[in-house]
Amino acid sequence: MTGGAPPPRGAIQSEERVLLVDPKQRRYLVALRQHGAFHTHAGIVAHDDIIGRPEGSTVTGSTGRRFVVLRPTLADVVLKMPRGAQVIYPKDLGAILMAADIGPGMRVLEAGVGSGALSMALLRAGAEVVGYEVRDDFALRAEANVAAWVGEPAAYRVERRDVYDGIDEAGLDRIVLDLPEPARVIAPAERALRPGGILLAYLPTINQTAELRAALSRSAFGLAETSEVLRRTWHVEARSVRPDHRMVAHTGFLTTARLLVPAAGASDGSEAGASDGSEAGASDGSEAGASDGSARTGLDHGDHLDVLGHGEQVEGTQ
Ligand SMILES: C[S@@+](CC[C@H](N)C(=O)[O-])C[C@H]1O[C@@H](n2cnc3c(N)ncnc32)[C@H](O)[C@@H]1O
Repeated sequence: MTGGAPPPRGAIQSEERVLLVDPKQRRYLVALRQHGAFHTHAGIVAHDDIIGRPEGSTVTGSTGRRFVVLRPTLADVVLKMPRGAQVIYPKDLGAILMAADIGPGMRVLEAGVGSGALSMALLRAGAEVVGYEVRDDFALRAEANVAAWVGEPAAYRVERRDVYDGIDEAGLDRIVLDLPEPARVIAPAERALRPGGILLAYLPTINQTAELRAALSRSAFGLAETSEVLRRTWHVEARSVRPDHRMVAHTGFLTTARLLVPAAGASDGSEAGASDGSEAGASDGSEAGASDGSARTGLDHGDHLDVLGHGEQVEGTQ
């Protein structure tokens, strides 16, 4: 399940973990072993009835309840695995991988590691991950979850330490943060990231996000951007096609910024690094002081977002 490893295919084997889905769409994660049994309030399913079957098979429990058997997706695992800390939801994990541009071989520092959900997504995208986690119980939980569901990748190490005390790594490609005060990591991140590297912070409230953005605007980071992901599922059945009544309305805000090199001749760090466009004395955001900080780079939104080649003005990148 790691970045380069081929996915398991063919008949389901003993020692694999599978997802059982009942007719009411309730989902159960089960670790299979020969002669084992899965007990639910709706009866018992013998593991031996699953082992050797292809994915997508239906098995019947002791009370006649039927279960579809599948190998779990990463999203299934994240939502069902044992937790210490609150995990990042799959909808946000996907967005984080894209916003932080995570890919094979990327050197990533992750803090705090929590239950390891984000670690799994980073590892599966092929990144080399060093995690900093202050709580030993959470670090153990994350290591166990990663080992159980992603294998024991050589590219994963969790250190028991406080990231606010500093970062030992250098030349990192990415830093991803899921902790309360990411602004306290900006200074160490300026030293630990390579130029052009991306800092990403995931925060539950906009107050925390505003504090982070203010701190970023005083730093060497630029191109700061904040977004959230709203995912609404639909009920699709015969003539009843409509949004589901319930959704997870809010999870968190994603903020990204890129480490810039100070412009030649800049008198202090504020010009090249300001991320709110406050440099160069412009007061109306129209030219040098464009309100998104793009004046620093010579790009404006029309330039860097016209990826469709249609010449339209596009607001935002997501
Ligand atoms: C919400 S949890 C992270 C969940 C994780 N992203 C996941 O998807 O499973 C936040 C974690 O940050 C850790 N943490 C808080 N402050 C920290 C710090 N200064 N340095 C390292 N870890 C920290 C907490 O112990 C907790 O495990």
